[in-house]
Amino acid sequence: MVQLAKRFDSIPPYLFGEIARAKAKALAEGADLIDFGNGDPDQPTPQPIIDALCRAANDPITHRYDESDFGWPEYVSAVANWYKKRFGVTLDASKGEVLQLIGSKEGLAHLAWAYIDPGDISLVPEPGYTVYKVNTLMAGGTPHIMPLLPENGYLPDLSAIPSDVARKAKLMYLNYPNNPTSAVATMDFYLDVVEFAKQNDIIVCHDSAYSEVTFDGYKAPSFLQTPGAMDIGIEMNSLSKAYNMTGWRLGWAAGNADIIKGLNKMKANIDSKQFPALALAGAYALENMAGDPKTIALYQKRRDILVDALNSLGWKLPKTKATLYIWAPVPPGYKSIDFAKMMLEKAGVLIIPGIGYGPYGEGYFRMSLTVSGDKDGELITKAVERMKANLEINW
Ligand SMILES: Cc1ncc(COP(=O)(O)O)c(C=O)c1O
Repeated sequence: MVQLAKRFDSIPPYLFGEIARAKAKALAEGADLIDFGNGDPDQPTPQPIIDALCRAANDPITHRYDESDFGWPEYVSAVANWYKKRFGVTLDASKGEVLQLIGSKEGLAHLAWAYIDPGDISLVPEPGYTVYKVNTLMAGGTPHIMPLLPENGYLPDLSAIPSDVARKAKLMYLNYPNNPTSAVATMDFYLDVVEFAKQNDIIVCHDSAYSEVTFDGYKAPSFLQTPGAMDIGIEMNSLSKAYNMTGWRLGWAAGNADIIKGLNKMKANIDSKQFPALALAGAYALENMAGDPKTIALYQKRRDILVDALNSLGWKLPKTKATLYIWAPVPPGYKSIDFAKMMLEKAGVLIIPGIGYGPYGEGYFRMSLTVSGDKDGELITKAVERMKANLEINW
């Protein structure tokens, strides 16, 4: 039997596996599960975007390879226009300041492959989206963990990064609004990041996947609004969460043209871009629709129901400003994996144990507001009633 490449040995064990097995077992036994697991929008893509895809798919020009440098021209210029409209940030798509991606995950992963050699360091937030760490490891690099602690508002403490590590690091990943903690960043923090990155010659990659999933009138800033950010950084985002388009796989990188060129060099050797009709439908969405406000209002309602209900069981959670997630401490006496298993087995409620986001996630769990089948918060109420009836929680 031919062995898999050794690079896979560097990846930490897949901690969601145990929960996935417990879920499969519960479903096989006919359990009525309420699933707060994946952050995958449960509402459909808005119809006008599907119509735009159909129109574009009927044009034979979209049936061939996209031979552009950085992505389908209408799409990359729609991204640039969106940045201007949404953030007042000027991007020149004709100069390579925007790159089409197969979803932001692809870009986040390939950025490590483009810039990290064996022995190089990338600065990675934890708890965090695992893609930053895993791809750094597979490229032979060393992730230096930046702990996200509640006492710092889940922002990394840049002054805690040892100066020799900072000097050696090539890449820093950041993500606000944040998965899984739902924290948001301030402009002051971004200013510190730009200064730190300039001092230490580090590329900053800001993952902005949840920039449009915000509540109560809060508007998330773009990292690229920070003076100097374009000199050292890029931002990645996608239509996945804002337009309920996770399955479409359409994203972008925007910002410094030299950094984007490096990422594009990697991509050009791996993929041959995407079905151009997708890009045209994405351009339609960005040019004509400000996200999907109905879905955001539904998430906000679910957030209110879930936070109020958990607080009635003894939690002390604030109302989150953004993201699809509630990040909450496990009750005393539990490891996050044990609490998640108990929730599944006793209450039929699927949550994600915080340890799945790295050791700094231990002591917490994540619940996603994308509950399939929930029309108006009723499944969330049912889930919390089951928790109340079946769990013994002693604070
Ligand atoms: C923090 C974060 N970044 C990026 C992504 C990837 O999203 P996509 O590849 O669909 O753009 C996700 C998906 O859940 C995420 O949580």
